[in-house]
Amino acid sequence: MSVNWSNYSLEQLRTHATVTFRQGGGSRPDVLLIEIDGEKAVLKDQGGADKMFALLVGPLLNWRECKALNKLNAVSCVPNLLSKPTSRSFLMTYHESEQITRLEKFHPEWPEFFDKLKSAIDEIHAAGVAHNDLRNPTNTLVTPNGDPVLVDLVACFCQGQAWNLPNRWMFNKFSQVDLSAITKIKSRVAKELITDTDIVAEDIAGRPGMAIKGFGQWIRRISRKLFTG
Ligand SMILES: Nc1ncnc2c1ncn2[C@@H]1O[C@H](COP(=O)(O)OP(=O)(O)OP(=O)(O)O)[C@@H](O)[C@H]1O
Ligand SMILES: [Mg+2]
Repeated sequence: MSVNWSNYSLEQLRTHATVTFRQGGGSRPDVLLIEIDGEKAVLKDQGGADKMFALLVGPLLNWRECKALNKLNAVSCVPNLLSKPTSRSFLMTYHESEQITRLEKFHPEWPEFFDKLKSAIDEIHAAGVAHNDLRNPTNTLVTPNGDPVLVDLVACFCQGQAWNLPNRWMFNKFSQVDLSAITKIKSRVAKELITDTDIVAEDIAGRPGMAIKGFGQWIRRISRKLFTG
């Protein structure tokens, strides 16, 4: 019989943790592998961040990521939401994988892998979600079959109504940034596959865009300093 994950409280789930993918602290959540009756799931708990950050920002981050996972329920390269035990935590399907820049056991055929990655990113965009943090290579995982899995949707940007032109413009820019992650990852693992058609981040919004990006990173740093010890 398969496990009914929504029967478990956060405390109960945490007692079944077998691997720590990421230890929380500062503005970062705990990310834990949970094993019950031989079945696996992944718990992301914003309660693992520093107290003030978890208290004030945790529910918002959790809500954003759950919203994106719900929208992407039909997309196979993104984990599915299994339960939401508290306002600061959620449980998702586990995908056996390694981070793309830390491969040890799995050795994908790179040309095929990058075709699949492009299709995966196009698929989440077609479902109305721009990922927004794919340039961080820890968010692209590789399965034993050489398939991509995209995780960590907390920074996502959702597509609005067709009449909402500013939203559409932003969504388009963020989608391009997602695709530029392919070029960045290629440069780390298979430089020779970069071609003229690959998207380079600097070309998307020009210098003003990169300045805005720098400003965003600055805000993030300040808020981390204010909210975390
Ligand atoms: N559904 C999943 N299946 C398998 N592994 C996962 C899953 N979700 C997360 N992981 C692992 O946990 C790591 C951290 O997850 P995630 O990126 O969501 O958290 P994070 O707090 O943003 O971490 P980071 O700051 O390192 O990106 C991933 O890089 C991956 O190795
Ligand atoms: Mg991440």
